[in-house]
Formats: sequence, C-alpha cells, structure tokens
Amino acid sequence: MNTQLLQVSYGLNQIEDAVKRFWEVTNEFNLFAFSGEMGAGKTTFIHYLCDMLQVEDAVSSPTFALINEYHYSENDKDQFIWHMDWYRLKDAAEAINAGMEDCIEAAVAGEATCFIEWPEKALELLQKPYLWITIETTAPDQRSMNVELIH
Ligand SMILES: Nc1ncnc2c1ncn2[C@@H]1O[C@H](COP(=O)(O)OP(=O)(O)O)[C@@H](O)[C@H]1O
Ligand SMILES: [Mg+2]
Repeated sequence: MNTQLLQVSYGLNQIEDAVKRFWEVTNEFNLFAFSGEMGAGKTTFIHYLCDMLQVEDAVSSPTFALINEYHYSENDKDQFIWHMDWYRLKDAAEAINAGMEDCIEAAVAGEATCFIEWPEKALELLQKPYLWITIETTAPDQRSMNVELIH
C-alpha cells in the first residue's frame, strides 16, 4: 500500500522550512529512499536535514565512499544515520557485497536511520515500511518533492 505523506515545492531559500515539514511527517521512520536524477537535489536535501538534526560529522556526498556514517543525539540518545549512494552499484548483489544490506537490517531493527540515493539500483534490498521520496527539478532553483510511505 502507498500513502502520500507530503508534497512540497521549495527553492534553496526555503529548503530549511521544507526540511522541517519533512521531518515532522517522516521522523518515526528509518528507511528513506531518495529518487531523482543527477543534480535533482538529493544530497543537498540530506545535507540540510543533517544540519537541522545537528549531526556532528561533516556531511558530504557519499558517491565515492558509498556509505557515510553520521551521529546526532535526540532525547539524550545517540542516533546513527547511514547515508548511502548506490549510483555506482550494478545490482543487489554488489550492494550486499558493499555492506548495504547490513545498514538496512539496522534500520529495520530500529537501530539506525538509512538515507539512500539511487535506490533503483537495488530495489530488492528495501524492506517495508519505507519512504519513497522523489525530487524533481521544476525550474533551475525550484524543486518539487513527493513523499510516499510504502507499507
Ligand atoms: N531548491 C533546490 N533544492 C536543492 N538543490 C538545489 C535547489 N536549487 C538549486 N539546487 C542545486 O542543485 C544541485 C543539486 O545537487 P545535488 O544535491 O548534489 O543533487 P543529487 O544528489 O540529486 O545528484 C546543487 O548544486 C544545488 O545547489
Ligand atoms: Mg547525490
């Protein structure tokens, strides 16, 4: 089943508000799949989201590392984020070899949050419930985001 949770359009000057609204409706979930073309703004959105969460580590595009680990604290508890980019992976087998499945298992167990760019590369690895987030470029500085809960 698919349930739409949010539809929002934003420019870079509104992205912090968009991030806040996003987190209000998605905070309780652990698996986030960010779909959108190169340059759509997946990394940018995740970067602002991590800023809002006051992540301690430097947030960068994981295109070269494939997986970045971030930490922040919420309600006096240490929280983990795995930020993954599957762009350079061929298929689910490669994703499993690269350790992506372990990150997802941690999310399913409620021990971490996963943000995944290019989830299309290994869709089989996703486990319900997860969020399917699409970002589209509607003008050079304008993005349209749709957030669906797949459950
Ligand atoms: N409203 C917007 N939201 C996000 N990025 C935007 C927006 N407007 C312009 N941009 C620009 O678009 C680019 C998005 O790049 P990036 O986040 O790396 O995309 P992706 O990770 O989807 O490939 C950045 O240069 C960013 O500054
Ligand atoms: Mg990116």
